[in-house]
Amino acid sequence: MQNESVQNERSFLVGVILPERENDENRSSFWSVTEETLEELGKLAEAAGTEVVGEMVQRRSRIDSATYIGSGKVQELRGMVEKTEADVVIFDNDLAPGQTRNLEKELNVKVLDRTELILDIFARRAQTKEARLAVELAQLEYSLPRLKRMWTHLSRQKKGVGLRGPGETQLEVDRRLAQKRIADLKVELAEVQKRKEREVASRNQTRTVSLIGYTNAGKSTLMNALTGSDVFVKDQLFATLDTRTRRWFLPGWGPILLSDTVGFVRNLPHHLVASFRATLEEARRADLLLHVADGSNPMVLFQIQAAYEVLEQIGIHQKETLLVINKIDQMKDEYQLQTIRNHYPEALGISAATGLGLEELAQAVSDHLSRDFPTIDVETDVSNGKLMAYLSNYGEIFSREFTEDGKVRIRCRIAEAFLGKVRQEKLSLRYVQEGEREKHAVGVF
Ligand code: GTP
Repeated sequence: MQNESVQNERSFLVGVILPERENDENRSSFWSVTEETLEELGKLAEAAGTEVVGEMVQRRSRIDSATYIGSGKVQELRGMVEKTEADVVIFDNDLAPGQTRNLEKELNVKVLDRTELILDIFARRAQTKEARLAVELAQLEYSLPRLKRMWTHLSRQKKGVGLRGPGETQLEVDRRLAQKRIADLKVELAEVQKRKEREVASRNQTRTVSLIGYTNAGKSTLMNALTGSDVFVKDQLFATLDTRTRRWFLPGWGPILLSDTVGFVRNLPHHLVASFRATLEEARRADLLLHVADGSNPMVLFQIQAAYEVLEQIGIHQKETLLVINKIDQMKDEYQLQTIRNHYPEALGISAATGLGLEELAQAVSDHLSRDFPTIDVETDVSNGKLMAYLSNYGEIFSREFTEDGKVRIRCRIAEAFLGKVRQEKLSLRYVQEGEREKHAVGVF
């Protein structure tokens, strides 16, 4: 099948503003949103390995069924494509197969939509077998209705400008082959998914936390900062495609597992989301999700929303989530900070790059994980250093109070499982009731 890769090509971007978006009250500034989304498309195009040589934005009251943009605009676009010597035109909007075909005929260059572009990036970044299978399946499912057009590319490559496609018989054969491959891939992926489920389930002794968030939010940087590992970090969209899991020694708690997942993006192609189920299994099974957002990005509120939408698509939006606003070292705009605070007062501000707020983050994660653990008061001799060491290793000590008769009263939170040893010592032990508990709230920003 024809490879759709656009690496090393010159790309020209096209964005179309439609009235529905204009009326969407969640969008504060209509034009700026479009500029930002086109900027994101540019970053995606770069991530796919193309050089962006120009862009065009058109406002339309409705889409043209044949060519998406109006015929006058198509001619204008053709002129711009020729002038900039672009090899590929990339639309921010999703195109129907027929529209792409017609546009390619008019423009005489390859035309891609946003979904195909994302699929192309994923195809080149996938490293593990699991990710490769997932991407291949998504690509095939997306391109099946577009097979005819792909043949057009192929014949054009072979014969220059010739646009004659293959006979219908050849197309039929291809279609059947693609369908067979899709069926095989689904079986293989289901096996991978089962294996992954078993693997993740077998780790039920250790608590796990998953990092999720919009692409480029800083998840890998945070993973490195917290676990001292050396995960690939790049100022590039979708630098991480496969889940990586590392051990994180959570102060006051002990070792837990932290996993990094594929970055999300607005309108993530749904074929991809479905195919990435196995990769996202870690997030599905996690005890807590850390939703990382790039606070310095003017689109942060949309990105947070888009990430929540992906969580909903994979059915894990009900999971306990802690929102982390990253890159606060780079946030110059007080208004933006205030806006985020107004929307998400619970969010924690951090900088994975400078380490700012990471202690508070560890504390908040520890609090979340131990939410169901009882808080106890236990009294012992001041000289019982062993018990104190035990409690601070396996639990979290909140306070020590010395009594007049030479004893110490320790208030701590600890899992029931570790209380047996304390009980063996036949010490005075009391459960602290909800109302008596001290608050260990973490500050916001
Ligand atoms: P994907 O793999 O696309 O999902 O990206 P990611 O979320 O893993 O982001 P990554 O950690 O690769 O970081 C993206 C870019 O942001 C890199 O250039 C980082 O150096 C930068 N970055 C991450 N955290 C911070 C931060 O706290 N402050 C600043 N100024 N830059 C940061």
